[in-house]
Amino acid sequence: SFEQSLRPLRLKEYIGQDKVKDNLEVFIEAAKFREEALDHVLLYGPPGLGKTTLATIIANEMGVNIRTTAGPAIERPGDLAAILTALEPGDVLFIDEIHRLPRSIEEVLYPAMEDYCLDIVIGKGPSARSVRLDLPPFTLVGATTRAGSVSAPLRDRFGVLSRLEYYNENQLTNIVVRTAQVLNVDIEDGAALEIARRSRGTPRIANRLLRRVRDFAQVKGNGSITDKLAHDSLELLQVDRLGLDHIDHKLLIGMIHKFRGGPVGLETIAATIGEEAHTIEDVYEPYLLQIGFLQRTPRGRIVTDLGYEHLNIEKEM
Ligand code: ADE
Repeated sequence: SFEQSLRPLRLKEYIGQDKVKDNLEVFIEAAKFREEALDHVLLYGPPGLGKTTLATIIANEMGVNIRTTAGPAIERPGDLAAILTALEPGDVLFIDEIHRLPRSIEEVLYPAMEDYCLDIVIGKGPSARSVRLDLPPFTLVGATTRAGSVSAPLRDRFGVLSRLEYYNENQLTNIVVRTAQVLNVDIEDGAALEIARRSRGTPRIANRLLRRVRDFAQVKGNGSITDKLAHDSLELLQVDRLGLDHIDHKLLIGMIHKFRGGPVGLETIAATIGEEAHTIEDVYEPYLLQIGFLQRTPRGRIVTDLGYEHLNIEKEM
């Protein structure tokens, strides 16, 4: 699809995550040399950093098919059996949000991962019996925003554990320039840099902002993304200088006004601003922690001096 072509398809086109990329390159080459399936890979880190893209690239580099599903979509052992028995030798099975896999399914997955086999119970009561199905060798690529929520026995069965990091300004600028080429839109260097700066270290956000800025360029400009057009559009999109959006602001300002900047617990923050605690923890908080605007303490979250400064709010003593 059009959307797919925006994503890099090979490791060489993939910008950033150098450590992850360099290691995967070796493991892929070795597995291909031995004509084996690649060992199972667990990708973890904040959303939007390219876990799905990497899973697709792994399959492309190995020259195999990829089947994609998500933890919450697999409800019964039969769901997993149907997927696993349809794989061809060496295929990649990508399970997104793997920490949300039901525990009963995890147990079916262990022998599949270790020995490429499935133990299925047929029937009920005294006549129930277990049959063992052989599976083709395959690679499980699991993705999660929270490595800590993956059970230890499941985590231990991955041969490769790769943590994705936030991208730096330079890497994000290169991604914006690459995506602009794919979208066939002219962009000035300063404009690409400004979009990168406001993307919270996250390619998904950078590419989304690029598309919105392109809309402004087409409707309000002559189609090219100049430095000035990018700057003016980003102001209209209400992403601030550091890429913090409406919800980041609501969170920080809520903590300051209602709780004097904390310490305050996650659930309390969530209730105050009307967002899910999980969404705050997985999506918003990691970046605010990373740039030092929030701190976690044993008694709850606090807004730091840096956070106050950015919002231009005086700290009450
Ligand atoms: N588009 C989104 N993420 C990317 C990445 N890491 N490298 C290149 N293009 C991308």
